[in-house]
Amino acid sequence: MELTVNLDKNSYPIYIENGILARAEEYISKCFSGKKIMVISDDNVFPLYGESLISSLNACGYDCHSLVLPHGEPTKSFQTLPEIYSALLTAKISRSDLVIALGGGVIGDLAGFAAASFLRGVKLVQIPTSLLAQVDSSVGGKVAVDLPQGKNLVGAFYHPKLVLIDPDVLDTLPPHFISDGMGEVIKYGCIKDSSLFDRLCAHDSFEDLKPELTEIIAMCVDIKRMVVEADQFDTGERMLLNFGHTLAHTIEQYYHYERESHGEAVGIGMYQITKIAEEKGLTAPGCAEKIKKALEIYGLPSSCGLPMSDLTEAVKLDKKNLNGHLNVVLLKEIGESYVYPTDAGFFPDCMC
Ligand SMILES: NC(=O)c1ccc[n+]([C@@H]2O[C@H](COP(=O)([O-])OP(=O)(O)OC[C@H]3O[C@@H](n4cnc5c(N)ncnc54)[C@H](O)[C@@H]3O)[C@@H](O)[C@H]2O)c1
Repeated sequence: MELTVNLDKNSYPIYIENGILARAEEYISKCFSGKKIMVISDDNVFPLYGESLISSLNACGYDCHSLVLPHGEPTKSFQTLPEIYSALLTAKISRSDLVIALGGGVIGDLAGFAAASFLRGVKLVQIPTSLLAQVDSSVGGKVAVDLPQGKNLVGAFYHPKLVLIDPDVLDTLPPHFISDGMGEVIKYGCIKDSSLFDRLCAHDSFEDLKPELTEIIAMCVDIKRMVVEADQFDTGERMLLNFGHTLAHTIEQYYHYERESHGEAVGIGMYQITKIAEEKGLTAPGCAEKIKKALEIYGLPSSCGLPMSDLTEAVKLDKKNLNGHLNVVLLKEIGESYVYPTDAGFFPDCMC
């Protein structure tokens, strides 16, 4: 299946197909006429998929290099950039060459930022291998690295030339990261597409959903595509993608990113904010229960056992809570979302 992100001169295609990774060179040769390629990956993904990708690119006549970094969020650090620039310099990568990000969101964001900044921009192809990266981070052009002071504090908008999504690679993704990605999949259904949400709820586990996974990924990517097209630089509509994220970020920060994963925190955030909004008459009754059920099916929690007051202190410190004003994303009903301007007082004193 082919989708196009229409952004004038920054437009790019996304191909979603089982087994597409084995034919990556066919697609890469359509968008890249240079010679040299640097594949950036991590030490979990590269041994599984990197070596065969490189052999098929080399067989096609490309001069292919690789950089394999340790897996995990600490690698997405500003401190990793010199190592990447150094590898790009050693390989004599020029502005007419290509960087391929092969991995989850960590590699996509990090290699994407390196590609955006090295020589003021080298072409980029995203080959996302985690569910979260396939449905979310590889599309939309946000690339970033973390600083010791916080996540994603240094970044850019930098679109790839091509995104290749192979759902087959999810067979090797640990179940924990499948649930994590499902948090975002459920989010898409909540904010934009009740038919997607209903499809997710018609199954009783991820295994049961699997035969439909390629289509589900495509539905999510298509929603992200539409939202990004409407708001390339994240000043309006794109805010809807933050549904559940206000509380999620504060939960993650509260536990120093060590307890709830991002997907788990988003799940809690979506359910809790919808419950509060229902009580205030801002969301149709029954939505919170439906979200809770969807989260349960995909192994995600809906509460974290903290008093809301502990979290609202963190909400007040969040960078998105400007001058006491806070924009929260709420559902009118499942499949329809809106931005509600408020302040930290929106959150009642209850258990979250
Ligand atoms: N740019 C954006 O718009 C955007 C959006 C959402 C999230 N993000 C970022 O994405 C990052 C999280 O991404 P993630 O959850 O993919 O984390 P990740 O990249 O750390 O991948 C999760 C784990 O799965 C492993 N892995 C990935 N694909 C695999 C596969 N096919 N088989 C076996 N193992 C595999 C990785 O090595 C890693 O250990 C965060 O840094 C977040 O800030 C960015």
